[in-house]
Amino acid sequence: MAVSGIGVTPIMAMAQAAQRAGRVEVVPMEEVGLLDLDAVVAAARAGRQVYSCGPAALRAAGHEVASSCEQGVCGLCETRVLDGVPDHRDMLLSDSERAQGNVMMLCVSRALTPTLTLDL
Ligand code: FES
Repeated sequence: MAVSGIGVTPIMAMAQAAQRAGRVEVVPMEEVGLLDLDAVVAAARAGRQVYSCGPAALRAAGHEVASSCEQGVCGLCETRVLDGVPDHRDMLLSDSERAQGNVMMLCVSRALTPTLTLDL
């Protein structure tokens, strides 16, 4: 008998276990809609990290964000980085471009610094 699953399955189980332990708060968009990201960040305690993925969060905050694949392969969401260090997770940028950190793909990349300032 073969058993298989998609990659996100164990991640959600781990996030739910961390939530039961009081270490994280999971706010599923399909249950509560998009976060009011400005309000969540403004109300965050020192040391708290807010993770909101993808262009949808930026659109909810009122920014126009172009995207297509949302998998880091087409380059449509490439955005200039004004300050901070991106955690590149796309399949497009060269090692040199990653090291420079001047642009990032919004759909998949993250921040390695507490804040990241983007030219939206
Ligand atoms: S939408 Fe295609 S790389 Fe971001």
